[in-house]
Amino acid sequence: MHKVTFLPQQKVITVPPGTNLLAASALAGVPVEGNCGGKGACGKCKVRIVEGDRKEPTAAESKGLSADELANGWVLACQREVCGCTVAEIQAARDACNRKTTLHRAASVIEPEPSVEKIALKLSRPSIEDQTSDLERLRQALSRQELSVNLKLLAALPGALRRRRFAVTAVISDQQLIAVEPGDSSGGIFGLAFDIGTTTLMSSLIDLSSGAVLAVTAATNPQNVFGSDVVSRITHASKSPEYLTALQQKVIETLNIMIAGLSAQTGVRTDEIYEAVVVGNTTMSHLFLGIDPAHLALAPFIPAFQKALELDAADLGLAMNRFGRVTVLPNIAGYVGSDTVGVILATDLDRRSDPCLAVDIGTNGELVLAANGRILACSTAAGPAFEGAQIRYGMRAADGAIEAVDIYNDDLKLQVIGGLKAHGICGSGLIDAAAALLKAGAIEPSGRLVNPETDALKLPASIRQRIRRGAGGFEFILADASQTSTGSDLVLTQGDLRELQLAKGAICAGFKVLLREAGITSEDVECVLLAGAFGNYIRVESALAIGLLPALPPEKIIPVGNAAGDGACMALISKSVRRRAFALPKRVEHVELSTRQDFQEEFINALAFPG
Ligand code: FES
Repeated sequence: MHKVTFLPQQKVITVPPGTNLLAASALAGVPVEGNCGGKGACGKCKVRIVEGDRKEPTAAESKGLSADELANGWVLACQREVCGCTVAEIQAARDACNRKTTLHRAASVIEPEPSVEKIALKLSRPSIEDQTSDLERLRQALSRQELSVNLKLLAALPGALRRRRFAVTAVISDQQLIAVEPGDSSGGIFGLAFDIGTTTLMSSLIDLSSGAVLAVTAATNPQNVFGSDVVSRITHASKSPEYLTALQQKVIETLNIMIAGLSAQTGVRTDEIYEAVVVGNTTMSHLFLGIDPAHLALAPFIPAFQKALELDAADLGLAMNRFGRVTVLPNIAGYVGSDTVGVILATDLDRRSDPCLAVDIGTNGELVLAANGRILACSTAAGPAFEGAQIRYGMRAADGAIEAVDIYNDDLKLQVIGGLKAHGICGSGLIDAAAALLKAGAIEPSGRLVNPETDALKLPASIRQRIRRGAGGFEFILADASQTSTGSDLVLTQGDLRELQLAKGAICAGFKVLLREAGITSEDVECVLLAGAFGNYIRVESALAIGLLPALPPEKIIPVGNAAGDGACMALISKSVRRRAFALPKRVEHVELSTRQDFQEEFINALAFPG
């Protein structure tokens, strides 16, 4: 066994020889970001060897790391097997999950209407004259003859009643008895809303009596080490039942750690948490439930379930009240999941009369258009570029990520999260960079970086000098070696710009197809609601400049925060909202883009800047 220490967290783990550093980091609880499931293809899982293995770079490292990075000791974690005591440094370990946690708008205005209630009872005691069974006695006192009960709870009922001399509190969720507590415990009724994102897990602890959000926490989805996108996760899960179980367990374990943290933060005991509502994209919902998502990756992309599911927390292994209930909100389609249902709830798209578009750009990009009494939804494979995947120095919004780019007085200005040296560029920075370079004339509308030798006169010298020839064509130096954490230039490549064009082209084309289906034009759209943490941080002007969003006046484009998570909170707080959610699969018309000729045509047309 070998000891591996990860810096700066000082996390130490002992692993058998042959374990690679990517797996070791996950075991140590400080997972390194990787987008290709450890195949050596994405170049994202960079760590710096401080002590230990100094072998020659592998072929994948020579391809994925710059000469400066290699010289400074950077390696790809998935390519390095631990073969002795090792100390490795992880960059940008503190990610910006908390960008998701501050956003609770719609949930704060919902009238509480919890499905869980507590009723304190003093039951009459049985006697020879009154031989009513324990359960019937409870049902009669509650005036609920239909009350159902879990067998394990029924088994514990006789003891629970007699220990407290028949003075108990019944906890009921709809028509189901979920706990019998000693004495009068009425008052503390709590629930959890989970937003299971491909990249980030978010948990909110809510007082169901008042509807108050007591605390929110977020964590990186630990399935990340098996690939950043849903298709990689589906591929991994489909390899064997054990892999599927492992993916499920990773999420459950992390959610349980989050629940423990929320409990410690608020003083709410985990056995006072009686209910949870879950949203996620369809793949994440399948994996959360341990359901093989294989068929989601194959046409016609059929999910195993669509309607909402109600389950026992104990069956899922969630660390809340052992008889608590978990509701997974419904899916719309294979690639439009309950997270989109959450967005619709939080933005009231199912109750609006004015044509309105909601765009949720996460690891996937989902679009929902409400117009003329209809709700249309589609999904585009747009997200990975905005999450940093497929971008040479792309990374998620985390410490060290360039999040904003401007050109003032012919000079490039960068804003880096955490005020640190730049380690990569996140989605908002990418959009800003493209918009700024487009405006400066360094990028042509076709997306091509201009040739500094032949187009020299058109550009200020300070910008022109940043364009150079790289292995894959021209590239633009966003930050030179002195400004970066790796000690090598951080560049935006021609390939990166192409990825951005593909992503924004897909969103733009999806939007146009939805408009056509609804029989309206972009001028008819009253507002565009940007859901997701990403929507909160992108600059609307930059998104408009590159054609990522429809050309509407900027004041009509409104960030709405983490609407998916907000919708989960709303459905947890209010039974009426939950009923709205349950009705949505029938109301929402799913528009499958993959087979539509008009989507392909719009997509081609939308590739150019601004499109
Ligand atoms: S290169 Fe290591 S995870 Fe992709």
